[in-house]
Amino acid sequence: MAEDAQQHKDQVRRVFDTLAPVYDSPATRFFPFCADRLVSYVRPRPGSKVLDVATGTGVVAIAFAQAVRPGGRVTAVDISADMLDRAAANIGKMALDNVDLHQMDAERLDFRAGYFHSVVCSYGLFFLPDMAGALREWVRVLRPGGKLAFTSFETTAFQPMLDDFVARLQAFGVQLPDGPFGSQRIASPEHCRELLAEAGLSSIDVQNLQLGYHLRDENDWWEVITSTAMRALFEQVPVDRQDAFRQEHLGFVATQKNENGLWLDVQTRFASGVKAL
Ligand SMILES: C[S@@+](CC[C@H](N)C(=O)[O-])C[C@H]1O[C@@H](n2cnc3c(N)ncnc32)[C@H](O)[C@@H]1O
Repeated sequence: MAEDAQQHKDQVRRVFDTLAPVYDSPATRFFPFCADRLVSYVRPRPGSKVLDVATGTGVVAIAFAQAVRPGGRVTAVDISADMLDRAAANIGKMALDNVDLHQMDAERLDFRAGYFHSVVCSYGLFFLPDMAGALREWVRVLRPGGKLAFTSFETTAFQPMLDDFVARLQAFGVQLPDGPFGSQRIASPEHCRELLAEAGLSSIDVQNLQLGYHLRDENDWWEVITSTAMRALFEQVPVDRQDAFRQEHLGFVATQKNENGLWLDVQTRFASGVKAL
């Protein structure tokens, strides 16, 4: 593997190890909302074997583990040991005994070919240096006739707060990657289709769903930032300027509130394809 790809993965792992204690936040309740919608989208059969890639704290694994009972199992993998510890705790609270967790790189799965009835990944694909290679690897472990599905954010998600956040990071001297980064690496529904087709899948489907809701105010938005990968970007602001950044950014965000609170757009793409029989 190229050295910079490995460095990127190590960096992502460190970011999520740090986020693990605060990741399950009421402000980011779209993660479990999305997990439930993904179950309705994939419609796994009871008794089936599901792979949840980039499981994080396990919301998708939990939703699928309930759906495949009786007899089904979910295997869930993530690169971050601390996220997996949280997943184990969340699975324990739900008293589920049909989930197996493994620390594993999503691009190099240690499973045999054709094993899973479904492979799913929610808001994880865009963290991977080689998205096309990862999808090919997920197709390898999928049974013929099985469905692969992933979710990613649509370009309107978190706007207009996200654009202000990014512009302000640049104004405060944070060096952002050249070109698209984060979820913008998956540019459009057409790009989703291309990725799935290149991985060899057919019956390709891409749908948008709005999973948004009203936050109370700008402080809830700050919780969205600090409990997601956006936090790692904010932490690149020089420490002596972080208070000023927060105040200026939240000053803008406060202007976006109305009588219902602050709208959090979480327009999400659901994309899937089927492996040929
Ligand atoms: C935004 S979280 C999504 C977690 C979960 N799917 C959800 O919907 O809440 C992204 C997850 O991808 C994981 N991840 C990033 N790069 C990975 C890789 N190369 N292999 C496995 N997991 C990875 C992170 O550790 C993190 O838990």
